[in-house]
Amino acid sequence: MTAASSSESAAPAAVLTPERGRISRRIAAITESATLAVDAKAKALKAAGKPVIGFGAGEPDFPTPDYIVEAAVAACRQPAMHRYTPAGGLPALKEAIVAKTARDSGLQATPANVLVTNGGKQAVYEAFATLLDPGDEVLLPAPFWTTYPEAIRLAGGVPVPVVADEQSGYLVSAAQLEAARTPRTKVLLFCSPSNPTGAVYPAEQVEEIGRWALEAGLWVLTDEIYEHLTYGGVSAPSMPVVVPELAERCVVVNGVAKTYAMTGWRVGWILGPTDVVTAVQLAELILEEAEVAVVPGEAFGTPGYLRMSYALGDDDLVEGVSRLQRLLGSAE
Ligand SMILES: Cc1ncc(COP(=O)(O)O)c(C=O)c1O
Repeated sequence: MTAASSSESAAPAAVLTPERGRISRRIAAITESATLAVDAKAKALKAAGKPVIGFGAGEPDFPTPDYIVEAAVAACRQPAMHRYTPAGGLPALKEAIVAKTARDSGLQATPANVLVTNGGKQAVYEAFATLLDPGDEVLLPAPFWTTYPEAIRLAGGVPVPVVADEQSGYLVSAAQLEAARTPRTKVLLFCSPSNPTGAVYPAEQVEEIGRWALEAGLWVLTDEIYEHLTYGGVSAPSMPVVVPELAERCVVVNGVAKTYAMTGWRVGWILGPTDVVTAVQLAELILEEAEVAVVPGEAFGTPGYLRMSYALGDDDLVEGVSRLQRLLGSAE
């Protein structure tokens, strides 16, 4: 049914006007990923037999290593893997991410600092959605990955590009960032090695920028997804490792897509302070400390409450409530 023919019905509220769009302005304002659009076209042409060479999406052209595929096949055969997982990710996966992070970048964290996402792209969006209020500005060194400004806008923020050119090796300086800072600046986006330039910030510059952000009271979202894609043995230092005092205001985004040629598997994560990566803290605490599962009231529109389903045997009911009493009593 078109908008015009729906005017025959008795429900004028459904009539579309230019002000009241069919989809929200927020979503309508998002631009399609230029790289994925080019990549999709190239793949379609290839499928049609055209000898297209793809310089589009940042995607390794080799398959995911066998040992990973074999482990995934084995996991698929385990019924335990067919179930809902905790919303923040499987505990064993969070442990593995913590160990990987300590091994690869030297950043020490705990599973409570990790939120598993459907790829790095979702991690970027969730981080901005958590940090930004409408009108908050994000300093965005340019050239930048096409998704950043869209994710910032989707979260109500304002991207503020800070351009680095070939003269500086595509690296922004703390002085340039300071010049772009306003009272509304909340976050600095930092991506090293960078997409699209491949530029890697040396440790001294990471430190200079990190200390500047700390001084300015900003958050840093550091995207480390290309950490292993460097040339000539250059390493890309992680900002919260170089400036440990920044860790409380730093969110690391990473994932398996690039290093392990797993772009289609959609596994990424956020690593950051616990208040950024967890939403309803009391329910988490109760599960961790007392091993009693309850649902936060936020899920039912009533923050400040807990919801307990009591479809349990009497023994479990008594034991569960006793554990809660011990935990909450000991917290007084
Ligand atoms: C800089 C950067 N960060 C994050 C991602 C997200 O990767 P994915 O969503 O495939 O895990 C990409 C993908 O191209 C990227 O270029």
